[in-house]
Amino acid sequence: MKKGFIFDLDGVITDTAKYHFIAWRNLGAKIGVDVDLKFNEQLKGISRMDSLDRILAHGGKENDFTLEEKEALAAQKNDEYVTLLQSLTPADLLPGVKEFLDQANTKGVPCAIASASKNAPFILEKLGVKDQFAGIVDPATLHKGKPDPEIFIKAAELLNIKPEEAVGFEDAQAGIDGIKACHMFAVGVLSGEPLHGADVTCHELTELNMDELLQK
Ligand code: BG6
Ligand code: MG
Repeated sequence: MKKGFIFDLDGVITDTAKYHFIAWRNLGAKIGVDVDLKFNEQLKGISRMDSLDRILAHGGKENDFTLEEKEALAAQKNDEYVTLLQSLTPADLLPGVKEFLDQANTKGVPCAIASASKNAPFILEKLGVKDQFAGIVDPATLHKGKPDPEIFIKAAELLNIKPEEAVGFEDAQAGIDGIKACHMFAVGVLSGEPLHGADVTCHELTELNMDELLQK
């Protein structure tokens, strides 16, 4: 019997991946690295700094910038990303998310967010669902990012349950790997690329039966 739900944010609650892509592509253009849609897949679920490191390595520029310069580049990317986020409204929740959260709250099943994004509280506020989460893991407190399970273990702690008592929802392979590494039940939310190791997959949350999930 499961006792709580743990959600990734980008690609599960809302489709912010397109805004991350625009901001990284524009930053890449400034420093001479081509960030295309296929390469962008490798940035899903990965922290801001790790994403920048991957972009620099992709362009063979891993030794071209000091830490200070990299921090400035990451800040530039985030400024553009946050500007793009200003237009978010509750209409930007992915299909079935609002209904799923409402149903969980009605059933008394607590929900938490396990996202690498430092913008998560702001995004949830814009989407009008922040109050529906009992906890949001602060990614600044993490020692390791996904695929390490630390973020999912912390999210379960916020809900006062064990990892194996939770159901985790993820759209990125790094996230599915993190969920499974702490023996959590994994729901893979598909958006094109296959997800390996998920216990169940769907294209949107409307396809899921909550009572069946709670019995896993
Ligand atoms: C993850 C996204 O949720 O958050 C990544 O999938 C992103 O693409 C990461 O890099 C960090 O987000 P932010 O908002 O802190 O730059
Ligand atoms: Mg995601």
